[in-house]
Amino acid sequence: MTGETDRDKAVESLFAKRFGAVPQAVASAHGRVNLIGEHTDYNEGFVLPCILSQRTLVALSLRDDDRLEGDSAQFGSASEQPGAVPTGHWLAYVEGAVAMMAEAGAPQRGVSVVVDSDVPAGAGVSSSAALGVALLKALAAAHGMDRPDPALLARMAQRIEHEFIGLQCGIMDHMVSAVGAKASAMRLDCRDLSYSLHPLMAGVEVLVIHSGSGRKLSEGQYNARVAECRAACDALGVGALRDVSAGDLERLADGTAHRRARHVVHENDRVHAAITALASGDAASFGALMMESHRSLAADYDVSSPVLDSLVEACRDAGALGARLTGAGFGGCIVCLVRSGDADSVLAAAMKAVPEARLIDRIAS
Ligand code: GLA
Repeated sequence: MTGETDRDKAVESLFAKRFGAVPQAVASAHGRVNLIGEHTDYNEGFVLPCILSQRTLVALSLRDDDRLEGDSAQFGSASEQPGAVPTGHWLAYVEGAVAMMAEAGAPQRGVSVVVDSDVPAGAGVSSSAALGVALLKALAAAHGMDRPDPALLARMAQRIEHEFIGLQCGIMDHMVSAVGAKASAMRLDCRDLSYSLHPLMAGVEVLVIHSGSGRKLSEGQYNARVAECRAACDALGVGALRDVSAGDLERLADGTAHRRARHVVHENDRVHAAITALASGDAASFGALMMESHRSLAADYDVSSPVLDSLVEACRDAGALGARLTGAGFGGCIVCLVRSGDADSVLAAAMKAVPEARLIDRIAS
C-alpha cells in the first residue's frame, strides 16, 4: 500500500503531467463509516461516525479564465463552462466548490484539477463528502485562506450537495471528513456542530463490509425520508425531531410519520448510550445498541434491504458483538463490531452468506 506522502506526491505529478505546472494546492479528505446514529443528522440529532483509511486527494490550480477542467482515474476527464456541467457529473462538485468560495469572498476563477480517490463510490461511505471537503480545502489554500474553520468548510460541502447535486443530506459526512481523526469516534451534535473525539475500545475491531449492492435510486428515497421527518415535525408543531420525546410520539396519528419519528427519537438515545458504553469500554453493550439500531432502520425507517439484513444476521450468528447498516441504507455497507480475535471468522461467515460482499476497511484502536 502506498503511504500518505507517496499518494500526495503521485497526485502532484499527475497534475504536473496533465497541466504542465506544479499545482497551487494539494489537499485530501477521508471517507467515513457511521458507528451509530443513522438518519438523525438532518433531524438535528446526534451521530457517532469515524473516518476510514481511504481518502480523496485533490491537486488544483486557479485558472485565468472561468473554465472547470478536471481529470481523475476514477471519475474520468471533463472540461466545462460553469452552468453547463451535466447534472450529477463529478465536475458539479468542482463547480459548487468554486461557487462556495466566491460567496466567501474569494475571486471567482476557474480551476484545473486532478482527483485521485480510493474511497469506494456508491458504497455509502461518503465518497461525495470526501470529494467536496478535499476540493474546498484545496481551493481555500489556493486562495491563501489561512486555516479555514473546518465547520465552515463542512457547511459549504453540505450546500454543494443540496444546491449542485440535489441531495438534501445532513451534515454528518462533511463534518467527520473535515475534522475526524484516525481510530476515533466523533460524537457530533448536528444542531450546533459541537463535537468530541473518543478513542475506540481496545481489543475490538470495526469492520466495514460492502454488501456488493449499490444504493440504487437512493437519492429519491433519501429525500423522501427527509420530507417524511419534516411532515412529522409539522404534525407535532416542532422545528426538529431532535426535540421530540418518546411520549410525544403517540400524538402522531399517521403510521408512517409515527414510525419514522420513533426511529429518530430512539436512535438519538442509542447514540448517548453508545457513548457511555464506549467510555466504559463496554463493547458488548455497544454491539447490542448497533443491533437495535439496525432493527429500527429496517422496521421503522424502511431503509434496509434483504442483502443488508443477511449480512447483519450472518455477522451476528458468527459471534460479532454488533452489526448494522451504515450510511443512508438501500444497499451499500454494513458496519460490524467484533472482538479482535473473531474478525477473520466473522468476515468468512459474511462472505459465505453474501458472496458479493467485500471488506472495505478494518479499524482498530
Ligand atoms: C447519508 C447522508 C448523511 C446521513 C446518512 C444517514 O450518508 O449523506 O447526511 O443522513 O445518510 O444517517
